[in-house]
Amino acid sequence: MQHWKDFLKDEAGMQALGAALARVLAPGLAIHLHGDLGAGKTFLTRAMLHAAGYQGRVKSPTYTLVEPYVVTLDGRPVEFMHFDLYRMGSADEFIEAGFRDHFGAGKVCVVEWPEQAAGLIPPADIDVFLTAERQGRGVELRASTALGVSCLEKLHLSPNL
Ligand SMILES: Nc1ncnc2c1ncn2[C@@H]1O[C@H](COP(=O)(O)OP(=O)(O)OP(=O)(O)O)[C@@H](O)[C@H]1O
Ligand SMILES: [Mg+2]
Repeated sequence: MQHWKDFLKDEAGMQALGAALARVLAPGLAIHLHGDLGAGKTFLTRAMLHAAGYQGRVKSPTYTLVEPYVVTLDGRPVEFMHFDLYRMGSADEFIEAGFRDHFGAGKVCVVEWPEQAAGLIPPADIDVFLTAERQGRGVELRASTALGVSCLEKLHLSPNL
């Protein structure tokens, strides 16, 4: 499956999507999260991390720009980097901080506000678009690489999460 779209009426639906995504994570996978302030990007990332076995607190990397985690995928520890680039400064600052080195290095990279680093980071394997609709959230997943397509193919989502 390369494309999937649904309406998640409440937080439980978003938790279930996070859990489903956690089951198909693979080393090197980059997921870009698109959506306005409060759309649910951090909430979805937190759901993924907790479903992947991380038991600590998942805070928004608003000021640090990135928070590192380790999750276990197929019995192996894999670094999981959670970026929030909303407050990113210049391209130079991003490069000097070594942020580019996290991409394409076998780590899972989940990026809020990826538009801020356009041209500096590789295209996503999976793009997630979140929109506030009525009381819930519209969600759309799009895979653009072979790795992304293979992950979405493994995703078994019920029609109404
Ligand atoms: N399916 C849903 N239905 C209703 N509310 C939801 C749903 N999913 C998440 N939420 C709520 O939406 C809010 C999303 O906040 P969150 O911090 O994740 O937004 P964000 O996209 O990361 O924003 P920012 O760009 O400021 O980082 C949370 O309070 C969460 O409870
Ligand atoms: Mg956020």
